[in-house]
Order: sequence, then structure tokens, then C-alpha cells
Amino acid sequence: MQVRSGFISDLWWKNAVIYGVDVKCFQDSDDDGIGDFPGLTERLEYLASLGVTCLWLLPIMPSPWRDNGYDVTDYYNVHPRLGTLGDVVDCLRTARELGLRVITDLVVNHTSDQHPWFQQARSSRDNPFRDWYVWRDRPDKEPEGVSFPGEEDSNWCFDEGTGQWYLHRFYHFQPDLNIENPKVRREINKMMGFWLQLGFSGFRIDAAPFLIETAGIPGKTPDHDPQAPLRDMRGFLSRRRGDAILLGEANVAPDRLTDYFGERGDELHLLLNFVLNQGLYLSLAREDPGPLRDHLEELPKVPRIGQFVNFVRNADELTLDKLSKPEQEEVFRRFAPEASMRLYGHGIRRRLPPMVDGDRRRIELAYSLLFSLPDTPLLLYGEEIGLGDDLSTPGRGSVRVAMQWTDRPGGGFSDADPGEFLPPLVSEGPFGSRQVNVAAQRRDPRSLLNRVARMIHLRREAPEIGFGRWRLLDTDQPGVLAHRCDWEGGTFVALHNFTGNAVQVKLDLGDDDVEGVGAGRVEELFADQAEEHLETVPPEPPGARPPFALQPFGYQWLRLHRDDGSDGFRAGGPTASSG
Ligand code: GLC
Repeated sequence: MQVRSGFISDLWWKNAVIYGVDVKCFQDSDDDGIGDFPGLTERLEYLASLGVTCLWLLPIMPSPWRDNGYDVTDYYNVHPRLGTLGDVVDCLRTARELGLRVITDLVVNHTSDQHPWFQQARSSRDNPFRDWYVWRDRPDKEPEGVSFPGEEDSNWCFDEGTGQWYLHRFYHFQPDLNIENPKVRREINKMMGFWLQLGFSGFRIDAAPFLIETAGIPGKTPDHDPQAPLRDMRGFLSRRRGDAILLGEANVAPDRLTDYFGERGDELHLLLNFVLNQGLYLSLAREDPGPLRDHLEELPKVPRIGQFVNFVRNADELTLDKLSKPEQEEVFRRFAPEASMRLYGHGIRRRLPPMVDGDRRRIELAYSLLFSLPDTPLLLYGEEIGLGDDLSTPGRGSVRVAMQWTDRPGGGFSDADPGEFLPPLVSEGPFGSRQVNVAAQRRDPRSLLNRVARMIHLRREAPEIGFGRWRLLDTDQPGVLAHRCDWEGGTFVALHNFTGNAVQVKLDLGDDDVEGVGAGRVEELFADQAEEHLETVPPEPPGARPPFALQPFGYQWLRLHRDDGSDGFRAGGPTASSG
């Protein structure tokens, strides 16, 4: 066991449960209507008891907040509305005491146009900061495609003062940094060093593709090594702090996913899995696990230290851009029937619970998948209580609502006048703070909060999921997805019914190649049904298993026990590591 547990904590991110927090939306401590670091620090006990192990803080640095903080004006400070650097350190120190790691967004593809570097750069063509950004005499055709169709129509913006165009992959007020410039690269390392020294355990690398996919931008020599920026960042990070991680945001096609880990596992540790997320929504819309199964099957193998990160919802639009147009239409019809619920032609600006009309069965199905599928799960704040959205807030702001702690008028988020809150508060309707809040759900053993907490704790106790080899299992029910994960003699199995019909599933557990399991017993760890139902299925003779019963949109988590009476774990047993 010694070896096993040492290994698990060495590669902690493979068994982590990540929780995304937008500090300004989470807990206000000084009644100015904006969440802040002292507020977050007060809520760390809650997060620790929920069971999450790593917090990801959305951008915390000074910013005009024209893009939710993804437009930075100072990389060495915290936004004054969120607190002081002292408050940040207090928070990190308390988190560490509670066993929580904290990472934060590092947004280095671009700065705000208000950043002093850009102000310098645009002051004259021969300013020393000119080459920190990307300038052209005329807008190039490349790169094609804009990130925010309807809001931006080009990736180039004309600068009147100096008569040249600058590159911006996102909004025009976010000029791209010139990642090829060694001074920019050195500065990025310095920033990482600064935040690591304060106690962060790593970074979410925003817009990772644009740090390496410079192919379309003219002026690149043929021997240009596009991977160098990520490799350099990783090298620096690991030298400064060996257990720190880089989590990349890269919404790219499956065949490009491996580009980010590095052939020798010397680039990013984790990569958000947008492709799987889109497959999940198509499957939920169709009530058919087929698309999700296909996406799982096409996932490439990654170096052993690397892993994908699964999520149900992030703080942006739910992008469907990797689905075909007819597939997008299917998801839109089911989950975003009105134009006001859509964004950029390929996204949905709702959270999951309103998309499924608050149907607990479908909500639990999605989170059961999140916590039982291979790879690392990421929960966005509020998902554990079924937080809704506010479609009256424009654009992506609709999902960045205030956290709901109690049924008080400000939802326990703040005692300021809710009309003055920076993030919108969902106060009315079925997802309003009187109906949906932490305090009420804590008291109710059957609440979503308590179900999700159970899932998280069980997920952490099943390292087979993060570390093991996984495969899909054959069943006689096309509406059911079944998979198993094996590691160090332990075996975890999960079944998910995507349909609205109760089914009896015959399952090929695929025991043949797992010594002893055929004659073992199946223990039900967790299921959608009432607690009373949770009982150990008695041992069965091999080959004579009864079918598994699944409720509409139901799920079951199982552990296979060997016939030798062990709990399935064996130190030093046959290793089945992923990829
Ligand atoms: C990422 C963020 C998004 C932001 C963009 C530009 O995609 O998630 O919110 O607008 O980067 O920084």
C-alpha cells in the first residue's frame, strides 16, 4: 500500500477533484456586492468538506474586467476589488491547512490594451515594447476564424497612432503578446515564479492553442519549434516547484489533443476535454450514449503523467463548435430552443439545471458521469447545488451568477443591496436563492449537494479511475453506457442509463482477463436510487450474474471483489497504467 499511496500523492492531479471559483461571484465579506478573498477564505471549510482537492481561481489580477478578468493590466498584483496580496496569502495558507491546493488562470496569450506594456508599444514604432506584441502593415488573411463571431469580425485591429495593425485572437481590446520574443518568455517565467512563491500550485493556461499554433502567422521560419513556449514554461515551473501543474485550455480536434502534453510528458499536465464535453451534450440530447462512447473511443493515449480534465459546464458559453451543424441543431433544439439562449452561433449560455428543466435524474446522470468517467473531474462553483443562470444578463455573463448560500435576500452571497451586486443574483423562479441554496441542501440528506459530495468522496477512493486502464463494456441495452477501470488489482465499474425507460442490463464484465474476478462478488458502491437500495449483491456463481436494474436516467457504481476475500487492492500486483 505504501508504494501505491506514495504514487497517488506524487501524481496528485490524476486523482484530484478540481473546483472552479470566480472569486468575485463566490462570497462577499465587506458588503460591497463583490465576492473577495476574505469571503473565499471563510468558505474554504465548506469546500474541504465537499471533498474537492484543488481550487482553480478564475483570473484574479488587476483588469478593467471587460472580459471577466481575461484582460490583465498587471501580472504581479491582485485586483483591488478582490482584496490585497495579503488576503491572497491568507487564503492560500488556510487552504493548505485544509489540504486544498490552489491554481489560478495565467492569461499570457494577450494582455489588456490598458496594460502599460501595450500603452508603451503603441506609443511609437521604435518603442522597446513594440516587439512585445504582433504588428503588421496590413491585416493578414491568417489566422482565419474569430473567437467571438458577431462581436468581432477580424483578428487584426488598426492602430491609428502608429499606422499598423495588431493581432488579437480574442476581443480587439486584448492584443496578443508576441510569444516568440525571448523577453516576453522570460517575463512569463517571472510571473509564474511570483505566484508560485506566494503558494499557488500551478496555473490554468488560458488559450493554450495560440501559444503553440502560430503556424498561420507569417514570418515563421521552417525550423521554428511551435512547442518551445509550453516546454519552456513547464521546465521553469518544475524547476521552481516539482509538484506544481499546468492545466491547459485547448478546444481542439481529437487528433491535436496530444500536442499539448509533449512527447515525453514535458509540457502540460492536464488538458480540458472540450471534445468529450460536446459529445456528452449530444448524448444527453439524444438520450443515447453513442456520441459520448465514440468520443471516448477516439481519445488518444497520453504520456503517463498527463491526463484530460472532464467538465459538465465552464464559465463561458457551452461551445458546440466541434459538432456538425445538424448535431448542433439537435442540441440547440433540446437545450436552447430560444435564440436568446444561444451565443456566437455555436454556443449555449445556460447552466445545466435550467437546460433540463431542473430534472434531478438528468442532472445526477451528468454528474455521475463526470465523477466516474476516466480522467480528472472539474466542477464549476454552484454546480453542486444546481445553480441556475440569468438570461437577462448579456452574453456569457448569464452563467457567472452569484453563489447561493442561504435563503436570505442576498442569497447569503452579500448583505449589499442585490441591485448593486456585480454578479447577478438569481432571486426568482425555481432556481432562485430561496429555493436553491447550500444551507437548505445541507439539511436534506437527499439533496443534490449531498449526492454530489458522496460522489466526490467515492471518486477519490477509487484511484482506478484516475490511474488505471479503462475500457467500455458490452451490454445488451443500447441506451446504457458501461465502463470499467482497473488498477493495481482494483476494479471499478459504472453503468449509466441515458434513456427515460427503466431497463434490465446484461453486462459482459470482461472478467476473462482479470484473474479471480469472475468468481468474485459485485458490490454496489453508489446508485441513483434510495439509500435503502444500497446493499451488497450476494456472490454469484461465475457466468450466472443477474441483470443489473437501472431506473430511467439511472446509474450504478460498482466494485468488483476477488474471490480471495480481499478488497480488490493488492500492492505490487499487475500494473495497468494508462497510456
Ligand atoms: C478563455 C476564457 C474566456 C476568455 C478567453 C480569452 O477562453 O475561458 O472566458 O474570454 O479565454 O482570454
